[in-house]
Amino acid sequence: FEHGALAGLRVVVTAGPTREALDPVRYLSNHSSGKMGFALATACVDAGARTTLISGPVTLETPAHVARRDVESAEDMLAASLAALPACDIFIACAAVADYRPAQIAGEKIKKEDEQLTLTLVRNPDIVATVAAAEPRPFTVGFAAETRDLLAYARGKLERKRLDLVVANDVAAEGIGFNSDDNAVTLLWPGGEEALPRTGKGSLARLIIERIAARYAAARGT
Ligand code: PMT
Repeated sequence: FEHGALAGLRVVVTAGPTREALDPVRYLSNHSSGKMGFALATACVDAGARTTLISGPVTLETPAHVARRDVESAEDMLAASLAALPACDIFIACAAVADYRPAQIAGEKIKKEDEQLTLTLVRNPDIVATVAAAEPRPFTVGFAAETRDLLAYARGKLERKRLDLVVANDVAAEGIGFNSDDNAVTLLWPGGEEALPRTGKGSLARLIIERIAARYAAARGT
């Protein structure tokens, strides 16, 4: 771990979806496979970082030399992220965290009764914004998954969540984004942006990590 652009640094990556329980047998979730986040963790190890991967429920193998913590819900992911912060120089939030969870988790399986069933959802905590507001804070990287107005929404997230860098991911385009093997993103930071064209998630992860290492070094003045 002594060579590479992240040598000696401690990186925490979140990956995969969260699951928000409705009752003992059902949950709300999304199509994140964890592939992008796991590829980022692999690229961090290859760049020399001590790497922790906080993962929602996925079916991927743990990359070599990565410390993995498995979680289910957004609240679990927040707790694991805060627990990892004292040993974190760079935090990369690639997970597709559910923005809302059911207001109540039914203790028993919900029975089929009426023609309609109304669920009440409540906001989940925003993990990456909480990390970015911590004192001291790691260099904080968020993703922005958008189906329209990608760069405008992504820059909004950069500013509102006080992030150091945002990885903007068009998740409406065919063949990239959720669950696919390829991806294409645009990196945004205060004062600049760079588009990284479509390629496999493994090679894209290496490019993203290279750029994060450069921005981290610039921010620390090294
Ligand atoms: O897992 P794959 O199948 O490989 O797909 C990869 C991906 C499409 C999931 C990934 O590239 C991606 O875009 N991840 C972010 C998904 C997302 O939920 O984006 P968002 O725009 O809703 O959230 C913005 C940022 O805030 C993200 O960094 C997210 O991790 C974070 N967030 C969101 C909600 C919340 N409650 N807490 C958070 O920390």
